[in-house]
Amino acid sequence: MNPVTHAQLDWDDQGRPHSRVFDDVYFSDQSGLEETRYVFLQQNRLQERFAALPAGGRLVIGETGFGTGLNFLCAWQLFEQHAVAGARLHFVSVEKYPLSPVDLQRALALWPELAPFAEQLLAQYIAIHQGFQRLVLDNGRVTLTLLIGDALEQLPQLDAQIDAWFLDGFAPAKNPEMWTAELFAELARLAAPGSTISTFTSTGWVRRLINAAGFKMKRTPGIGHKWEILRGEFLGWPAETPAPVAAKPWFARPPAHNGKRHALVIGGGLAGCASAASLAARGWQVSLLERHDGLAQEASGNPQGVLYLKLSAHGTALSQMIVSGFGHTRRLLEHLQRGVDWDGCGVLQLGFNAKEAERQAKLAEAFAPALLQLLDRDQAQIRAGVGLEHGGLFFPEGGWVHPPALCQWQASQPGIEVHAHHDVLELRKVGAQWQAWDGDRLLASAPVVVLAGAAEVKRFAASAELPLKRIRGQITRLPQTADSQALATVVCAEGYVAPARLGEHTLGASFDFNNDDLTPTAAEHAGNLELLQEISPDLAQRLHAADLAADTLEGRAAFRCTSPDYLPIVGPLADTLAFARAYDVLRKDARHTPQATCPWLDGLYLNSGHGSRGLITAPLSGELLAAWLDNEPLPLPRSVAEACHPNRFAVRALVRSNVAKTAP
Ligand SMILES: Cc1cc2nc3c(=O)[nH]c(=O)nc-3n(C[C@H](O)[C@H](O)[C@H](O)COP(=O)(O)OP(=O)(O)OC[C@H]3O[C@@H](n4cnc5c(N)ncnc54)[C@H](O)[C@@H]3O)c2cc1C
Ligand SMILES: C[S@@+](CC[C@H](N)C(=O)[O-])C[C@H]1O[C@@H](n2cnc3c(N)ncnc32)[C@H](O)[C@@H]1O
Repeated sequence: MNPVTHAQLDWDDQGRPHSRVFDDVYFSDQSGLEETRYVFLQQNRLQERFAALPAGGRLVIGETGFGTGLNFLCAWQLFEQHAVAGARLHFVSVEKYPLSPVDLQRALALWPELAPFAEQLLAQYIAIHQGFQRLVLDNGRVTLTLLIGDALEQLPQLDAQIDAWFLDGFAPAKNPEMWTAELFAELARLAAPGSTISTFTSTGWVRRLINAAGFKMKRTPGIGHKWEILRGEFLGWPAETPAPVAAKPWFARPPAHNGKRHALVIGGGLAGCASAASLAARGWQVSLLERHDGLAQEASGNPQGVLYLKLSAHGTALSQMIVSGFGHTRRLLEHLQRGVDWDGCGVLQLGFNAKEAERQAKLAEAFAPALLQLLDRDQAQIRAGVGLEHGGLFFPEGGWVHPPALCQWQASQPGIEVHAHHDVLELRKVGAQWQAWDGDRLLASAPVVVLAGAAEVKRFAASAELPLKRIRGQITRLPQTADSQALATVVCAEGYVAPARLGEHTLGASFDFNNDDLTPTAAEHAGNLELLQEISPDLAQRLHAADLAADTLEGRAAFRCTSPDYLPIVGPLADTLAFARAYDVLRKDARHTPQATCPWLDGLYLNSGHGSRGLITAPLSGELLAAWLDNEPLPLPRSVAEACHPNRFAVRALVRSNVAKTAP
């Protein structure tokens, strides 16, 4: 894996950016705005298509080469001018060399008329790291999914139906690696029926290759010093080319929901509130049912949680999920109050033993310094503001979050009604409605239900078989002292400690696999104090830890909810018995892909299994769920979405029974 690097730019005497790597301009010398509008907006007939969108309708634009975001901002402006309230714009753009935030700001300052849109983009252009990065703009009316990396690596992972393609990306002669038959096959694979496409070039070999991929391209008069440009539409996948591999039926998209857009979300923690917010942003009416008297009273109720990224240098599904999820959560936090609801003070992960230090060195090679930096002990001490015994990995954009604040903010979005004291004991399907019952009391009903009750989802027949485990954890609240005020970042070893929020540091957290009781114990407070000692004896001293009696300490305990592969479980649910019958052949031949349609439980979805990192995974999982439900571009690579899919366990169980039978 190569770390992503920012675009290397030179600026001409009129303040316009020029790429050093490609030796080409980002936009036309004459008028970038006019060229964008003519080449991409007009040739894709976006004005009339935006105007024709109904409330609840959506148009998906795809682009190669996000660059300065000029095309995106022009499309957004046009959308704003012509689309009705309730319509949505989804823009997916791939970029190998993202501009640094400073360069982006400088480039966009060239277009004062786009300032209202550019300001919103800049405010969210944070933590843009490799892979899929979702930005929710204008309260969800506009969604931007940036795929950071090479187009030929990123687009094959995209699951989307693109209505209009902007084929941008420096002149073919300057960037021949991108303008290839492979790329055009990807554009075709992703093209929705009737999809349109345009590009600023009219180069003959480009036109022929795009045509060969299934588009019909036409030359059309150009603009400025472009004599001709190309526009076209997608006719269909060429008969002579082997069809792209379809998703396995158990990971395929369930049929689109056509009924009333009303969903029950059961569970008012990070997963439930995120699911509710993602659906509400898409115009769904959401009833959020929580058994307690308010939101975020279980795992999501700690005073401070850490944006802790446990990455792998090998780009595993989990690691990809973490980088994408971190970016998404980090951007959402911009809506909350810094210092009380969260703080971007950075997170330092100490290299507290040789194995950890070695792992960290590999991570520093695999990821860009904007995400993480290896610090020696002296540098780490300066960052942390307290004495340390090790250096470590510093995540400058990380920090701590007060999870209830994130939950409250998400649940307060228009379209969400919170129903406290609603303990759902049973779900029944009656006609097209799911009914939520508490004994003989009907609590609510809707055609769609999202189960977001952490491990409690196992009480429902439809999700009873999922391998979710509860792991008790306890945090300790430590009063800030005059000397502990020096702590400037979150510091983690096996445990973590955060700079104080409202006069208290959170120290966490214990792991207990056997205790079902949530009363805080003195033994675990004592264990947490040992974790503090391991993090920093100096900080422990500043906090007068030696004088603190474990049985007088305050804290709280809750259950984490984990899956065996530590990935969350997010997506549509299938009927367990019918699933085993439909795919029984996997017991005999694991390589066979049966074609039978998955027996989905229509309208039933799950968002759970967030383990120790719900702050990072739950909000993006809300977006993933909404994308499954609304047939939208997925906010994660296909392979990562499949790795999080509820059906993965049923498939593995069938395949394993085959292995068990054939093993000697
Ligand atoms: C001690 C500890 C420390 C942690 N530290 C961190 C950290 O530093 N960083 C981090 O990212 N993560 C951390 N986590 C993990 C994080 O808190 C969880 O991943 C996250 O809160 C899970 O959110 P959730 O919504 O899935 O579950 P929960 O917050 O448990 O929410 C589930 C909700 O569903 C409700 N519910 C369940 N069943 C029903 C029903 N049938 N009807 C109605 N309501 C129902 C429950 O009452 C509850 O409110 C920590 C967890 C613990 C326990
Ligand atoms: C002309 S600029 C795009 C201008 C942009 N659409 C705008 O509105 O500012 C071309 C962009 O394509 C990106 N690019 C070039 N080759 C790429 C590749 N193989 N994969 C992804 N992005 C690429 C460049 O880094 C650059 O940002």
